[in-house]
Amino acid sequence: MEQYVIKGGNPLVGEVEIGGAKNAALAILAASIMTDETVTIENLPNVRDINALLEAMAEIGARIDRTDAHTVKISGAFVKDVPVDYESMKKIRASYYLLGALLGKYKRAEVILPGGCNIGSRPMDLHIKGFRALGADVEIRGGAVAASARHLRGSHIYLDKVSVGATINIMMAASMAEGKTIIENAAKEPHVVDVANFLNSMGANIRGAGTDVIRIVGVEKLHRTEYSIIPDQIEAGTFMFAAAATKGDVMVKNVIPKHLEATTAKLLEIGCEVEEFDDAVRVVASKPLRNTQVTTLPYPGFPTDMQPQMTVLLGIATGVSTVTESIFENRFKYVDELTRMGAAIKVESSIAIITGVDRYMGARVSAPDLRAGAALVIAGLAAEGITIVDDIYYIQRGYENFEGKLRGLGAQIELVSSEKELQKFRLKVS
Ligand code: EPZ
Repeated sequence: MEQYVIKGGNPLVGEVEIGGAKNAALAILAASIMTDETVTIENLPNVRDINALLEAMAEIGARIDRTDAHTVKISGAFVKDVPVDYESMKKIRASYYLLGALLGKYKRAEVILPGGCNIGSRPMDLHIKGFRALGADVEIRGGAVAASARHLRGSHIYLDKVSVGATINIMMAASMAEGKTIIENAAKEPHVVDVANFLNSMGANIRGAGTDVIRIVGVEKLHRTEYSIIPDQIEAGTFMFAAAATKGDVMVKNVIPKHLEATTAKLLEIGCEVEEFDDAVRVVASKPLRNTQVTTLPYPGFPTDMQPQMTVLLGIATGVSTVTESIFENRFKYVDELTRMGAAIKVESSIAIITGVDRYMGARVSAPDLRAGAALVIAGLAAEGITIVDDIYYIQRGYENFEGKLRGLGAQIELVSSEKELQKFRLKVS
């Protein structure tokens, strides 16, 4: 069993390169099989979720040629349309993007209901509502979603809740429907825009991505393209917060500062300095951190995927802070773990009330999901003594070489897989 072992207390200092956005890449990979021509995708993050989706796509007949760790060529010419019920599909929630892609291309799709991080109930009603509005018959049978249509027809779709997944899935299917689709109350996340740009580079006709009304005129065929994925704003934000928590000075490179505005605003509010460059941000934390209030919201609001990292930061800020989770109802599971490191946090329904403490104390904790796992690593980096993080499988779903990048900034962190390696680390840092 792999674990992270961390000796906290070192300020992070230096430069770190951010990889491609995992959540954009997942949708883009699925969309790449919508053409029979070969698509090249660059700046792919080399993380478990991506590799699991590529594996699942290969199982349904996609030809995958990984030319290097961050580049893949995909041919969807031999993809089988239905059904997609392989074990690998259950591992990742993003397998649901194959529904939109296959429905658009073949007008038929059957995909096993997705797994993914357990951060609350994660329904698919809006995806299904969208497919039905496009004229598909959709049913749930044997744990799978099955959708089929004689013809997909453009439609006017209002999403009752802002959903990244539903917006992207409907956008994919509508790209190959007949006529015009309008998605209202669409998600505006940078990865929605990236997927739209990718589909447009394949010949789709999508306008308005990044606003809450997306207009799509369906096309009959999509074609080959070469596309580079945008930087991961959550990976970037995680390193920015790690710099702040350790009183460090970090230049986070290969980012789009505009995508980080909510994260940057909170860092400024709690007393950090943030300098923006064309494709980098520098975070300097030289003063004590101050308390604040945060509510997670769809983009451009504060991202739910940065919520645990924010709580960790506020846990060692002066005064009382609140963090309100408005997207997923089960995203405070890490608080018990953080309490074992000395945090003073009370969760009342969707609000965490945080009384700042001077410092965290190293402890053995376990990652309950991807972002919470990364947040516990940040706590370990800021803590006195040694922290061991179990279940780092979750962290590896979305962070490439997390420990290596942190070590590059001066952190004392190691990935260990035996008691012997753990003892060796203890000796080294003692
Ligand atoms: C995406 O999940 C991301 N996952 C999540 O990232 C991220 O937390 C989330 O968007 C919000 O930004 C991927 O891109 C693979 P939603 P998704 O549909 O698409 C409700 C990470 O750590 N809803 O935007 O599943 C839903 O319950 C992960 O990288 C419905 O009610 O999220 C939630 O309250 C975790 N019906 C809200 O909408 C639906 O049909 C937003 O969910 C769909 C969603």
